[in-house]
Amino acid sequence: MTQKEYIEREERYGAHNYHPLPVVLTQGKGVFVKDVDGKEYFDFLSSYSAVNQGHCHERLVNAIVKQTSRLALTSRAFYNDRLGEWEEFITTLFGYDKVLPMNTGAEGVETALKLARKWAYKVKGIADGKAKTVVCNNNFHGRTITIVSMSSDPDAYCDYAPFTGGFIKIPFNDVSALEEAIAQPDVAALLIEPIQAEAGVIIPDDGFLKTARCLCDKYQTLFIADEIQTGIARTGRMLAVDYEDVRPDLLILGKALSGGMYPVSCVLADDDVMLTIRPGEHGSTYGGNPIAAAVSMEALQVVKDEALADNAMKMGEIFRKEMRRCSSPLIGDVRGKGLLNAVTINPLHGKSAWDVCIEMKDFGLLAKPTHEHTIRFTPPLIITEQQMREALEIIQKAILKSQND
Ligand SMILES: Cc1ncc(COP(=O)(O)O)c(C=O)c1O
Repeated sequence: MTQKEYIEREERYGAHNYHPLPVVLTQGKGVFVKDVDGKEYFDFLSSYSAVNQGHCHERLVNAIVKQTSRLALTSRAFYNDRLGEWEEFITTLFGYDKVLPMNTGAEGVETALKLARKWAYKVKGIADGKAKTVVCNNNFHGRTITIVSMSSDPDAYCDYAPFTGGFIKIPFNDVSALEEAIAQPDVAALLIEPIQAEAGVIIPDDGFLKTARCLCDKYQTLFIADEIQTGIARTGRMLAVDYEDVRPDLLILGKALSGGMYPVSCVLADDDVMLTIRPGEHGSTYGGNPIAAAVSMEALQVVKDEALADNAMKMGEIFRKEMRRCSSPLIGDVRGKGLLNAVTINPLHGKSAWDVCIEMKDFGLLAKPTHEHTIRFTPPLIITEQQMREALEIIQKAILKSQND
């Protein structure tokens, strides 16, 4: 089959809820993926930062194969011999009393919202039905009805009403708007991405997260960090909040928690929050299954053993330095932390970020626009300096070609 035929089949039988780059992939190893014609590409998306450890990492493949052939799913009707081991491992690693496992990122966010509301009613003493959560404009926390209810992006929420209530939206990175919102009565929590990745890698001012933490303390409000995309070493620290020594009350992780092998997400919190949910009040058939536990433990251990946070920090600096040196008029802003980076494309001769992504694909590198004028660059964190420099050459060649077309 040709790539065109693969694409037409998806178009014919699949829902049209994505707009992929026209390339059909069949294999992946480390920082590379291969299409069905055998052409190799640098993967500079990493499945939206799920594949931080690199494609088909040998240790992760071994972990999933071994566990799959032993015991895959028990449901939580029974105990299994891997879940407790993972729970001990991850709570020790991140320094929380308890963890609640789910599968997708959106479920992790839903879990955190439910925990915050339970805590609001059971601990903070907010009157039933009144609890509010403060969220930021341009957030991206997933796709469920409740989550799109707090979105400011019409593509995310249009035609999905009626919406879930109880959200106060404020501008990101605005201390006075934040204090005004948190000071209102009945606020249970602030839910925030430490860097707004989907919005185009929007980094708040230094000190903003720390101030937000202090305001949450002042008004007895929970600080919920959505680190589904920024966490697990992506930004050059294990968590993006580590840059400001902020400890969230609830920490949501997903994506690279399994290195892209399996859907695993979770919420970490201390007992005063976590134990407000009792048996039967929340859960998921697949949440905490033995495969997820085994793979996630290995995925986190790989991040530590291979010092991926340090590598992300170093490679990210090279990326930004070299992109800033590239003098094309097409390049606008270059910004990021670690290996979570974005480049804005000046709309010159009608060229869009999509056009540049098509050129990069043709030269052998895959990345995706986050918005019309912004391209996100997020390679696997195992990338070497030599690979990064080769990739930068491709990116710059593609930009020059777009500029001259
Ligand atoms: C910050 C953030 N939160 C939540 C999600 C949703 O995760 P999932 O697609 O696994 O539901 C994403 C996905 O991109 C994300 O980036």
